[in-house]
Amino acid sequence: APIKVTKICCIGAGYVGGPTCAVIAVKCPHIKVTIVDLNQSRIDAWNSPDFKLPIYEPGLENVVREARGRNLFFSTNVDAAIEEADLIFVSVNTPTKKSGVGAGSAADLNYVELATRRIATVANSSKIVVEKSTVPCRTAESMRTILEANSKPNCRFDILSNPEFLAEGTAITDLFNPDRVLIGSLQTPEGLSACNSLSAVYANWVPQERILTVGLWSSELSKLAANAMLAQRISSINALSAICEATGANIDEVAHAIGYDSRVGPKFLKASVGFGGSCFQKDILNLVYLSESCHLPEVAAYWRQVVEMNEYQKRRFSKRVVDTLFNTITGKRIAVLGFAFKADTGDTRESAAITLIKDFHSERALVNIYDPQVEHNQIWSDLADAIPQTPVDSIKKQVTICSSALEACKDAEAVVIATEWKEFREIDWEAVYAGMNKPAFVFDGRLLIDADKLRKIGFKVTTIGRAEVA
Ligand code: UDX
Ligand code: UDX
Ligand code: ADP
Repeated sequence: APIKVTKICCIGAGYVGGPTCAVIAVKCPHIKVTIVDLNQSRIDAWNSPDFKLPIYEPGLENVVREARGRNLFFSTNVDAAIEEADLIFVSVNTPTKKSGVGAGSAADLNYVELATRRIATVANSSKIVVEKSTVPCRTAESMRTILEANSKPNCRFDILSNPEFLAEGTAITDLFNPDRVLIGSLQTPEGLSACNSLSAVYANWVPQERILTVGLWSSELSKLAANAMLAQRISSINALSAICEATGANIDEVAHAIGYDSRVGPKFLKASVGFGGSCFQKDILNLVYLSESCHLPEVAAYWRQVVEMNEYQKRRFSKRVVDTLFNTITGKRIAVLGFAFKADTGDTRESAAITLIKDFHSERALVNIYDPQVEHNQIWSDLADAIPQTPVDSIKKQVTICSSALEACKDAEAVVIATEWKEFREIDWEAVYAGMNKPAFVFDGRLLIDADKLRKIGFKVTTIGRAEVA
């Protein structure tokens, strides 16, 4: 019979492990959930008395308030949590490799391997080990080999793949009410039994028909494919936005018309300055690397084009700003509203805003940045990474971080909307206009604002997927 899970350990207290396992704790009061991380300051933040959590996610604080200290614990004592658990989620980071074989596209599995080896070293009893980080196909197989080669007598390890599909900004609602939960296992009696154990955890709140069980490799590939197909929709609509700008068609109208086809559906068809986030680019590049490893160059090229279109979209947008401002932005002040990769998150990984600011910086513009959530230190470290060989002090001569949209727009020539924060729609645009140099330009990279309203105030407005208005 499948073992009944009573203690869960989650290795990695990041954007995935933290919210996911906090929600499991809330929904399963009979299970003790311990989330561990090597990063002491991250764990301290999860444990902070005033709930200053390390990530910003709507609804997360309530979840942590409800379960922390009851059956949800955060700790740096990785070994103790592994030891007592019957089920272990591995939810560590899997960044794209920066050097070595596959640099720029393969996943860096060092963290997964180290966590796996730690489990093998510490465990004195049988465990179900669940791969939760997004990893290329067959990682579960490697994890299994490492665990089996290092296990003590009487310890068996069953490996499951259980990719997470939550989106940042809506993580808690996604977790409470997932479209589906996907569990991959070996199709052996032991594998299926482990699968049932994990399935029983989710069954505490997820309807049975939404819990999909498949083979290990299908599960791993489905996660990469799901993200690749979502990103592909955005690149497709962004490619069409370029045609709209050249022809006078309106991308919003086109997307609306396309999305009405029930075979296509309306979601994820919003043209933008380019997708960001920790997953889309990384997962597509993993898929590209996987395709190449399988000697499928045409398949690799097909998926790579999704990322290239995204790069093109960002470049195209920066160029449009420069072109519109009479072909030079040198010495001009540009307000960039939004730095996060999407609204309702403080996460900046692969944010399109970074690329835009880098481009504006290299044109020697002055840039004012405002984002309601992103920490200032994060902005400086992202810009230092994006603009290498330039000391931060020197970047600071051109870039200023502001504490409100109004302040950022003061004395600017142009406002660029890079993130779709709702508050940008509610800005006092009359006041913004009064404080700007004229002509005052607005570039809407998110189809966020009412362009006609702004034109009435006097702004010159440029929107993604719309031709210039004379
Ligand atoms: C994504 C997947 O949605 C999620 O299922 C997976 O688990 C992790 O990767 P996330 O990256 O958090 O989630 O956010 P998502 O809402 O998918 O947005 C990704 C990027 O695409 C953002 O930069 C967003 O602004 C952009 N986007 C999204 C668009 O430009 N247009 C759209 O229509 C939708
Ligand atoms: C298509 C559009 O669906 C329709 O809206 C438009 O008006 C005309 O073009 P049609 O070509 O008649 O219609 O058939 P469709 O059902 O779209 O199939 C087109 C091709 O795609 C067929 O060869 C079909 O076998 C193939 N197909 C379709 C797949 O291979 N996989 C699928 O999942 C769907
Ligand atoms: P994700 O978005 O995938 O959740 P994050 O980078 O936000 O990625 O979180 C991953 C977390 O995993 C980090 O906080 C990191 O410190 C932690 N981590 C990485 N390797 C280990 C390990 N071997 N043991 C414990 N924690 C680890």
